[in-house]
Amino acid sequence: MPETFESVFGQPPEVRASAPGRVNLLGEHTDYQGGFVLPTAIPQRTEVDLGRNGTREHVLYSANLGRSLRVPVGEVGSDFAPYLTGCFALCGVQEGLNAFITSDVPSGGLSSSAALEVATLRALRELYHLDLDDVQLALLGVRVEHEFVGVRSGVMDQMASSLADTQTLLLIDTRSLERRPVPLPPNSEVLVIDSGVPRRLAESGYNERRAQVEEASRLLGVKELRDVTDLSQLDVLPPLLRRRARHVVSENARVQEALGADAARFGQLMNASHASLRDDYEVSTPEVDRLVGLLQAHPDVYGARLTGAGFGGAVVALVRQGRAGEVARAVLPAYTAATGIQGKQVVP
Ligand code: GLA
Repeated sequence: MPETFESVFGQPPEVRASAPGRVNLLGEHTDYQGGFVLPTAIPQRTEVDLGRNGTREHVLYSANLGRSLRVPVGEVGSDFAPYLTGCFALCGVQEGLNAFITSDVPSGGLSSSAALEVATLRALRELYHLDLDDVQLALLGVRVEHEFVGVRSGVMDQMASSLADTQTLLLIDTRSLERRPVPLPPNSEVLVIDSGVPRRLAESGYNERRAQVEEASRLLGVKELRDVTDLSQLDVLPPLLRRRARHVVSENARVQEALGADAARFGQLMNASHASLRDDYEVSTPEVDRLVGLLQAHPDVYGARLTGAGFGGAVVALVRQGRAGEVARAVLPAYTAATGIQGKQVVP
């Protein structure tokens, strides 16, 4: 029997909520410089069930880990606790809660953190009848990352988890937060593979990249790199910052060009995005490059690249409609033969 809130806490929860992971098709590492992103929700979700426990302590049970954390009300705790206690703090929770968490969102590149935050915030919104719309809720999730987890993430993941569906891409202008659904190019579908590469130094590497592009925009005298449209403006930067900034500026242009592009062109833009993430932003790994290369070489693949923050994690490909399973079956054994690592098809 799978565990439930009832089996762990001996009574039913007061509220149940869930939220999906996301995969980003194009627009990587642009969302903390006011840029454009193009994510979609994935079918995998994180569920958070909550109930008051009448004590001064939160009991947070992770079904995936098979263990619970106990955190006094008003404290943050460690391990996975901050993702929940951060939400509790920002929503003004003053009493002990029992939480049951279960998820099939793979960790690494598919926003398992945002899914946990958005699910927790949805549960709190329902439990306490909070007056929060889906954008405000997403922005609270971002604050949890910044203030409680210690990652200075952009807004894409929580916005996607809170607002995207699995049927269309969601174009988000991360400066204005304006957004609109964008269909996938005709005759294409999305394939997502978890590379199985454990993410190393992802948080410090992420914060370092963010600091570098903030420094670049400061040196250029612009508010954000979103405001740079001509790559030659970057020539005044020192070499490392120039490469970092070139990724962000060129990635924004790729997202714009992808809107309305056919599958072949969209795929080329994804390939160019990967090269830029690998060479200019340096957030790929040799194994991920291998997986992306195998995908790009397959005749049914329009384009492929790493997705999410990088440093390991997941890979996304745009493939000929109806061919995703076939592509995964061809590429995964070759990837394992080359790297000794087991990858896994996540979507579809
Ligand atoms: C992580 C962050 C996002 C975004 C991506 C890279 O997923 O949480 O805000 O910056 O990396 O595009």
